[in-house]
Amino acid sequence: MNNSKWISHFQSNRRNRPEPVWEMPLTLTEDCRRALVLSLAEYQLGDGGGPCRLIARDAEAFRSTSAEVRQVVDMWFAEEAEHSRLLGGAVTRLGGEFITDTFAFRLFNHCRRFFDVQFEMLVLLLVEIVSTGYYRVIRRHCGDRPVAEMCALIIRDEVGHVMFHRDRLAAMFPEGPPAAWVLLFHLLGHACAAFLWLGHGRWLRTLGGTWAELHQHVRHGLRRFVRKLQPTRHPAPMAEQPPVHDWMHGRSSSAP
Ligand SMILES: [Fe+2]
Ligand SMILES: [Fe+2]
Repeated sequence: MNNSKWISHFQSNRRNRPEPVWEMPLTLTEDCRRALVLSLAEYQLGDGGGPCRLIARDAEAFRSTSAEVRQVVDMWFAEEAEHSRLLGGAVTRLGGEFITDTFAFRLFNHCRRFFDVQFEMLVLLLVEIVSTGYYRVIRRHCGDRPVAEMCALIIRDEVGHVMFHRDRLAAMFPEGPPAAWVLLFHLLGHACAAFLWLGHGRWLRTLGGTWAELHQHVRHGLRRFVRKLQPTRHPAPMAEQPPVHDWMHGRSSSAP
């Protein structure tokens, strides 16, 4: 994998990040405010708010593969920490309370520790695909400009993270992923989406979101990811690959 390309990506992604105007007047109904803040407070813990690093037993060996790998991984997690900070701004704006532990969060970390670092990164990738769907639903239905702007920033980062995993896995599977891997990928991805809806569905429904909407985002994200892992006969030169910004807005057929 071309690590320097990802170091450049993470460096350039630090630019042009306007902070949402958290002080804007709040116009949400009490039901919507409460649903939104309860959901975002859980996400504040899960999206960069816990151990913000790889935690599998062989994580350090993986990070030590090279100085570039270490830098890329650290820059990836620096963006995760930024998500937690942004979500913290939203929780404060909406008058919520911060959460330090949930059953879902403990289960998430247990899954990350249980196998090796490759499995942990697969879990994180699936969570990133599912979370991108979650943030798209929140952005569409939240009815609050600063929160919608925060979602746009996080979606932009997560799209980059998913592309990073695609590069990583394409290098691991030059002939395309094995059928068993694809099956596991889809099964875990749909399970992750169902688990998210189980925990957040009632709040998303209050805002006007539906399971069908979330599931459509997740299903498309999973399928697109697998499709882009298939080897191409004539890969585009690096400079011609679509930038994250275009992927984010679906301006290219390659959008994740
Ligand atoms: Fe994140
Ligand atoms: Fe991420």
